[in-house]
Amino acid sequence: MSQKVSGVKGMNDLLPGDVEVWQHVERTARDIFSRFGYGEVRTPIVEDTALFVRSVGEETDIVGKEMYTFDDKGGRSLSLRPEGTAPAARAYIEHSVGNQEPLTRWFYMGPMFRYERMKTGRYRQFHQIGAEAYGSKEPAQDVEVMDMVVQLLRQLGLSDVSLNINSLGDDACRPVYQARLVEHLRGHASELCADCQKRLERNPLRVLDCKNERCQQIAGAAPNILESLCEPCRAHFDEVKRKLDALEIKYVVNPRIMRGLDYYTRTTFEFIAAHPVLGTASTVGGGGRYDKLVKSLGGPDVPAVGFGLGLDRLCLLLKESGQHFGRPTDLFIAVADEGSADVAFTLASRLRREGLRVEFDTRGGSLKSQMKRADKVGAIFALVIGEAERQSGQAQLKPMAGGEPMPVRLDELANTLRTRLTPA
Ligand code: HAM
Repeated sequence: MSQKVSGVKGMNDLLPGDVEVWQHVERTARDIFSRFGYGEVRTPIVEDTALFVRSVGEETDIVGKEMYTFDDKGGRSLSLRPEGTAPAARAYIEHSVGNQEPLTRWFYMGPMFRYERMKTGRYRQFHQIGAEAYGSKEPAQDVEVMDMVVQLLRQLGLSDVSLNINSLGDDACRPVYQARLVEHLRGHASELCADCQKRLERNPLRVLDCKNERCQQIAGAAPNILESLCEPCRAHFDEVKRKLDALEIKYVVNPRIMRGLDYYTRTTFEFIAAHPVLGTASTVGGGGRYDKLVKSLGGPDVPAVGFGLGLDRLCLLLKESGQHFGRPTDLFIAVADEGSADVAFTLASRLRREGLRVEFDTRGGSLKSQMKRADKVGAIFALVIGEAERQSGQAQLKPMAGGEPMPVRLDELANTLRTRLTPA
């Protein structure tokens, strides 16, 4: 026997049955985002490695440990995108979008790659639905993107998700906080993991999102960043809170939302689910403001804010809710004798051209096995075609959920089905 080839660890296949849940989330997101005026952007899965080093940051776990990086045949260092903000910013700059559209609102959906330790809700190929708004520095823009997530979660019926918000300050006050943080961390320097000892010198904020248990304890006792905010950053944060209140969006102020990526300034936020199915992967989405990123990548001085949602995690939650999203088969056409197979096959094709969802078993087989399949595919109606039906042009339309079969003319079947299928 030939040896079996397996899929790559941490990269999942999605099969029919699950795919419908994903499509439902994607459809709902497209609908909600269009209400807010966001247009879809699609960027390549592979980018120049330097893009992520310069934006997400060299000292982050994502860039330092988790990127799929390789040299192409021309010797360029490329990486599978670990997130969507940097590629979107690159495209925004490359196409001079800001010149044509001073307030630009984009969303994207697609696979991202991080070489992470796998568990439920944490994969090496995962999927994000994200949105980015460029051109507004106002708190209203921060709240608009949060509102979009809130409305999406609400529409999906995911109510047990809490919004945590924080502010990371800006160039004026972040260094003040950083100095206080370094002072705290220095007191525990010898207890920090080897990576964090380096981070302490190069990028001390990143110590706060280290996954090492002792580092987390030390980070837990670190000074509160909100107490170091300068006046403009405090005013921005207060206005974000006021606007969330005005929209009746509930939130928790959580100074521990550091976000693990270097590009953030001021507002950061995470959506955290309470359901145990996600275990430690309970953050279904996160985002924040990044007013310096576009300029630092060689673009104009344009402020921006956005979020990324973990589609895999949202779908795990939605599956737990027990809702069904697949569209059922309208009609199953069964064949009573071999001589009727052509007529049934043609009829099935004709009805599909009219927009109906019709199944027909191309293998033939006994009437009993065909009816079993009609049941399995969850058809709403079944119809048997045999010699008598061919001769008379009439058949019995059988509701699969039970009830009396009704006589139908085959040449009026599409209309009859449509009226029967449309809820009164
Ligand atoms: P992030 O927090 O790194 O942010 O990722 C956003 C979401 O992606 C997470 O909250 C989580 O739900 C999901 N996610 C991350 N890693 C995995 C994984 N290994 N497996 C499954 N799901 C995962 C960003 O990526 C930013 N680009 C968000 C952003 C957009 N900020 C501003 N604009």
